Amino acid sequence: MVQLKNKDLYFVSSNPNKFREIEPILRQYGIVSQLIKMSIQEIQSESVHRIAEDKSTYAFKHLLRPVVIEDDGFYISSLNGFPGQYSSFVYKTLGNQGILKLMLNKVNRRAYFLSVIAYNDGHTLKMFSGKTQGMLSKAAAEGGWGFDPIFLPKNTNKTYAELGRLNRKSFYSHRRKSIEKFSKWYITKRLQSGNR
Ligand code: IMP
Repeated sequence: MVQLKNKDLYFVSSNPNKFREIEPILRQYGIVSQLIKMSIQEIQSESVHRIAEDKSTYAFKHLLRPVVIEDDGFYISSLNGFPGQYSSFVYKTLGNQGILKLMLNKVNRRAYFLSVIAYNDGHTLKMFSGKTQGMLSKAAAEGGWGFDPIFLPKNTNKTYAELGRLNRKSFYSHRRKSIEKFSKWYITKRLQSGNR
């Protein structure tokens, strides 16, 4: 049974890496959050927004507290957007080496990450997205998680993994962009409703 502390909102995910990146940003905006480690079955959909929406509805019904969930997609241009919404499955099955193999001899190495944040408090369901364009590296760097070792965001020659080690991933991150949009909206909503 999950122990719910008294927080503004609950971030529901099976992936603590996401919360590790999101929590300090929420805190900068004065938003107090707790990770609820839970895996939610994904619906079959082409749309990361639809998946996020559905997961937030499930999470709210489960906890009956304001929830935030995040769903991501990783889209590789020369593979027609693969793995997209199947990124998690493809990471587990092919891994970074498998992706780099698929990219051997490809000239176009463009790729992007999409993050969709869904907030659901039972009355309001609101979504925010963040996108980061970049390229696939030729080799995997050390460290990070998921596709961090092979993704070079635009305007830097370092991968997410290397940026993470320098505490610089957040500056480029798709997740930072979506959670900042959410945080700005959330604190405005809180001010308007007279809470704190
Ligand atoms: P999910 O379906 O939202 O769990 O995420 C899709 C997959 O994309 C994750 O399992 C990771 O493999 C990958 N992913 C999402 N965000 C990141 C990131 O910031 N760095 C590295 N990989 C990521």
